[in-house]
Amino acid sequence: MKKHNIAILGFGVVGGGVAELISKNADELRSYLGCEVSIKHILDLRDFPTSPFAGLVTHSYDDIVNDPEVDTVIEVMGGSHPAYEYTVAALRAGKNVITSNKEVVANYGDEFAALARDNGVSYRFEAAVGGGIPVIAPLLSSVRQNKIKEVRGILNGTTNYILTKMFTYGDSFESALADAQARGYAERNPDADILGTDASRKITILTALVNDVLLSVDNIPTEGITGIRAADVRAAESVGHKIKLLGRCIVREEGKPLVIVAPFLLPVGSPLSGVDGVYNAIEVVAEPLGNVMFYGQGAGAGATASAVVGDLIPIIAYDGKNPIVPGFNRTDYSAKEALPEFVCKSYVATAASEERVHEVFGDVTVLGTVDEVAFITEEMSECELSSKLSDLGAPVLSRIRFL
Ligand code: HSE
Repeated sequence: MKKHNIAILGFGVVGGGVAELISKNADELRSYLGCEVSIKHILDLRDFPTSPFAGLVTHSYDDIVNDPEVDTVIEVMGGSHPAYEYTVAALRAGKNVITSNKEVVANYGDEFAALARDNGVSYRFEAAVGGGIPVIAPLLSSVRQNKIKEVRGILNGTTNYILTKMFTYGDSFESALADAQARGYAERNPDADILGTDASRKITILTALVNDVLLSVDNIPTEGITGIRAADVRAAESVGHKIKLLGRCIVREEGKPLVIVAPFLLPVGSPLSGVDGVYNAIEVVAEPLGNVMFYGQGAGAGATASAVVGDLIPIIAYDGKNPIVPGFNRTDYSAKEALPEFVCKSYVATAASEERVHEVFGDVTVLGTVDEVAFITEEMSECELSSKLSDLGAPVLSRIRFL
C-alpha cells in the first residue's frame, strides 16, 4: 500500500487538532485513498511529555526537510518567520506544503506558487481563509469559469463574535474581546483581529484568486472595529441594520480591484447579516452563477484542522502532481488610490448642529439629535463625503458605510 508521511510544524491549537484528526481518520484515509497516512515528525520548541504524539516531537527543522520520507509538510505555526523560510526549504526539497497561515500566504504566496510549480509539488492553503469553510478550492475550480464581480465576506471570527455580543447582549467591546480570547478565537496579538489586519490578509488571498493579482496587505484600506461605539450599534438597529466587519474585493478593470476592509451596515435579513458569533461567510457575486455564499466556522482547532486535512486529499489522490496555484501575480497597485472612487451611503454621527448637517448634506434622514446628530447620507463617493465632512466644521464621531 502507498505511504504518505506528514510533518507538522507547530503543535499549538491547530497543530494539535491536525494531529488528532489525521490519527482519528487513519482508517478512513486508508480505505478512501488506498494510502497509509502517518505523522512522522512534529516540530515545536516545546516538549509534550504527556501527549500521545510525544515521541514524534523534534526541535530541529533539519530532521524534517532532510528526511526523504516526508512527503508533505503542514505549516501551522503562524507568523511570517520562520514559516517563510521553512516553506521555501520544503518546496525546494520537493515536499508538498499545506498551511493555515494567512500571513505567510498573503505576504509570499507568489514565491510559494512559483516554487511549487517549479518543483512539481502542491501548495495548498484552504484553512487560511474562513477556517474550516471550503472556499479556496471552489474558487479555483467550480466557480472559476464565471465572471466574478465581487467577493465579500465576514473573514474574522473574533471581530464577528465581538460585534455579535455587542449587538445581541449589549456587551462592552472589552468584555467581548476577553471572552473571544478565552475561547481561543483571537490571534496571539488581538490587534491583528480588531484592527482588521487579519481580514486584510484574507481578502488579499481572495483577491489573488478572483482577480489574479497579489496586492501588498499594506496597500489595502483597512479599518478595524475599535471605533465602533454602543451608540452606533443602537443606531444601526434602529434602521434595521447590523454592523459587520467585511473584506470586499470588487473586481474592476484588469488588475485594479477595489479592495477594502471596514465595518459595513448590512440590512437585517441579508445573507451576511445573519452570520453571527465566530462564524465566517464569504459571498461571491458571479455571472452566470449569481450569488453564492460559503458559510461555517472561521476559527478553532477542529474546523481549521478539517480544512488542513482536507487539503491532503487532492495531494495524495494526484500524488502531489496537482500544483493548481492561483494567479499570484505580484502588483504594486494600491487599492488605497482607488478608495476615493468608492461610492456608498454612509451613517455619520457628528458634534455639528442639525442645522449645519442640513446645510452641508441637504435633506438627509436624521436618526437622532440627543448629545450628537446621527444621520444617513445619500450615495456619494469617498472623495465627496470627506469634503462634506470637513465642511461640517465639527468633529465626526463615527462614520460607517452601508453595503
Ligand atoms: N483570529 C482569527 C479569527 C483566527 O478570529 O478569525 C482564524 O483565522
